[in-house]
Parts: sequence; C-alpha cells; structure tokens
Amino acid sequence: ITKPFQEEEVLARIKSQLTIQKQKRLLEKERQLLKIEQDNLKEEIRQRQEAEAILYQSRAIISSILNSSVDGIAAMAALRDKRRGNILDFSCLVVNPIIARAFNQEPQDLIGKIVVKKFLDRINYDLFPNFVKVVETGKSLEQDIYYNDQKEGKWYHFIAVKLGDGFAITVRDITERKNLELTLEETNKELEAFSYSVAHDLRNPLGNIESLIDFLQEEYKNHDHPTQNSQETFDVIYESTAKMQQIIKDLLLLSKVKKSPITLELMDLSNIVEDILIKLQRKEPQRKVELVIQPNIIAKADQNLFIIALENLISNAWKYSSKKDVTYIEFGVLSAEQQNLDPIINQCPLYYKDKNLCKQKLDRIYFIKDNGAGFNMETAQELFTPFKRFHSDNEFPGIGIGLSIVKRIINRHQGLIWCDSQVGEGTTFYFTLNNFVA
Ligand SMILES: Nc1ncnc2c1ncn2[C@@H]1O[C@H](COP(=O)(O)OP(=O)(O)OP(=O)(O)O)[C@@H](O)[C@H]1O
Ligand SMILES: [Mg+2]
Repeated sequence: ITKPFQEEEVLARIKSQLTIQKQKRLLEKERQLLKIEQDNLKEEIRQRQEAEAILYQSRAIISSILNSSVDGIAAMAALRDKRRGNILDFSCLVVNPIIARAFNQEPQDLIGKIVVKKFLDRINYDLFPNFVKVVETGKSLEQDIYYNDQKEGKWYHFIAVKLGDGFAITVRDITERKNLELTLEETNKELEAFSYSVAHDLRNPLGNIESLIDFLQEEYKNHDHPTQNSQETFDVIYESTAKMQQIIKDLLLLSKVKKSPITLELMDLSNIVEDILIKLQRKEPQRKVELVIQPNIIAKADQNLFIIALENLISNAWKYSSKKDVTYIEFGVLSAEQQNLDPIINQCPLYYKDKNLCKQKLDRIYFIKDNGAGFNMETAQELFTPFKRFHSDNEFPGIGIGLSIVKRIINRHQGLIWCDSQVGEGTTFYFTLNNFVA
C-alpha cells in the first residue's frame, strides 16, 4: 500500500533540492573567484620575484662599481633645519671605500652618519657652502682642492651634482698630474726668467758693439778710401745689430706682458685702430689701401697692453698684404645679439676643450681682416709660438714674436684668439675679451 500523496512533503523536497542547487552554483562561483585570485596572487609573486632579482642585480652592479672604482663616489642627503628649512649638514646615503678611507672608516660605518660639514671645514671653509649651493641652485660644481691629512698633502679633483635633496660626488686623486703641472709651471717660470735675463744682459754688449761699429766706420773713412764692398759690409753689420736689438726688445716685452699688472679702463678700439693705420700709411704713402673700421667699438681693457696687441695685429695685416695692388683691412665686432656666432666659434680650437665655458663667454667677437698673403692653416698650429714664422725673411721680414705677445695680452684679459686664413686670399684674426666686454 503506497503512502498517500503528501503535497507539503513534495514541496519541501523540491525546495530543498532547489536550495542545494543554488548553493552548488554559489560554491562553483566562489571556487572560480578563488582560482582567479590565486592566479593573480601567483602573477604578483612572480612579478615581485622578478623585480627583486632586477633590484638585486642592479644593487650588485652598483656595489661592484662603488667598490672597484678608483675614484671616490658618494651620495649625500641634505639635513635641514625643521623650522627654517636651511641646510645644516649632509648625511651619507652611499659611500664607496675610497671616500671612506679619507675618513679612516669603513663605508658601512659612515652611512647615515652626519660628519660632512665638520670634515669639509677641516679641508676648506668654502666647501660646505659650495655644496649647499649645488643643492639649492641645481648647478654642478667642479673644483681642484688640496688636502693635507697630516701624513701627506694630496690634490683632488671633484664634481658634485644635485641628486634629490642632496648631491652626488665623484672625487679623483690628481696629485701626480698636479705635481707634474706645478713642476712644469716652475720650469716655465725658470725658463722665462732665464730668457729675460739673457735678453736683458745682451742689451749692453750689443749697445757697445753698435757704438764700436760707428767708431770703426768713422776711423775707416778718415784713414782710407771706403770701397763699395766695405760700405755694404758695414750696412749688413748695422742691419744685423738692429735686428738683434729688436729681438731683445721683443723678448723683454714678452716677459713684461706676462708680469705687468692689468688696469682695466674703457677704450675706443676703433680710434686706436685708426691711429695705428694712419701711422702705417704715413710710412708708405704710395700704397693703395681700402680701410673699413666699424666706429665706436668700446671695450674694457688694459690700455698699455691692448694697444701693443692691436699694433701687432694691424701691422701684420698691413705687412702681409703689402704685395696686393690694393690692400684691404677691416676691423669690427660680431655680436651674438645680431647674428649666430656658432660657425665662427667653431673655428676656435679652444672651443672644443671647454665648450660650456667658451659658449657662455663668446658673445662678442672682435676681428681684423686682411686680403694679404695668408698661410696654410694646416701647417700653422704653432702660430702663437715665439719665433715661428710661415713666410721667409725675403718674402716678408719679421722676427716671429708679435703674435706670441698678442696671445699673452689677450689671455691676460681672459680672452681667446684664433684665426682663419687662406693662402693668397687673406687672413682674419678673431679675439674675445670675455668678462670685460663693456
Ligand atoms: N695677417 C697675416 N697674414 C699672413 N700671415 C700672417 C699674418 N699674421 C701672422 N702671419 C704669419 O704668422 C707668423 C707669425 O706672426 P708674428 O706677428 O708673430 O711674427 P712676424 O710678423 O713674422 O714678426 P714680428 O715679430 O716682427 O711681428 C708670421 O711670420 C706670418 O707667417
Ligand atoms: Mg708680426
């Protein structure tokens, strides 16, 4: 006998079946979500491991660079006054063994320590404010310093660049190079003193020779009949002694130019150039000349020295263009405000050595141009070396000191000088006066 059909029981069964199915579906969904989360977690772990490996690798690279570098390397963080915000000191973020050795410590003992100001003040009181300036202005700093750590004196060259709220620094021991430079400077000074005293001491005997030749010539005229030959011999002796006098005068001037103090004053270069050319023209009135002088070129320079420089440059232009039918000489100034100076600056050999230094300074370039004999630029590297000449004495007489004097004068005004020349076409000398431009 079957049990009678109970409606409630059936409904309850269906309901529980439905609930079970619903829960199953929910469970399945949760399982799927869990799986996605698991996968995401796995991916995250993989990415982290990868990043850690990269980080580990770069740390290893950095630490091997720091440990093996022959230069000192460090990174410093600024320590600021909490209220005022000014930098009180720096603490070491990173230091390599070379720098740590300067503190007589191991790198790990220095990291995080604040010892910088005290240490820097021991070397030079300007260093700390200079590093503060690097951080505050963002401008890098390059300097040579001398440090005597009681054992021995050493020279260091360092470059400091802003890094976050601090700076990174590389320091190189340049003691050997600096000592060589100082020895060279000393030797140059000795050589200079030697050539000065030789030139100075030669003046008197040469003066004596000149008066004795005068005396001999007079004697010769009184006692005998002078011949054509003997007169020519006397002329050659006179010419040679005059040239020796000139060489001695120029050598003494070359020494003087290096030593004499500089007094800067405003000068009208256009007027000076004009005066020099008028005097030259008076000596050779037969020459046909075309002169172009840009008026009112004013510059700040040492009057005595600068006139000598301009005289040499102008007399070269005058001398080396003497064989042209019409001599052309031009004096002027090119300014960065009026035209792009880069193509001209690129001709300056020094420009390549210190690009930034020259670029900021070369905003005005003075020039003296001629249409003379010119010279081969490739063989003229020693243009400013004393006694170097690129024309023979028969072609154009000269001693070969003029341009060395000019270069020293320009350099004493912290300027640069260079030239552009073409054989048979002419020469242009360019120079700058840098900071002293009016
Ligand atoms: N404007 C120029 N045109 C052609 N060559 C020049 C010019 N200026 C200089 N030179 C060359 O450079 C050389 C060196 O010039 P520098 O003025 O030093 O000596 P110099 O003119 O020969 O003699 P001095 O010592 O009497 O001036 C010259 O011998 C000449 O060959
Ligand atoms: Mg000359």
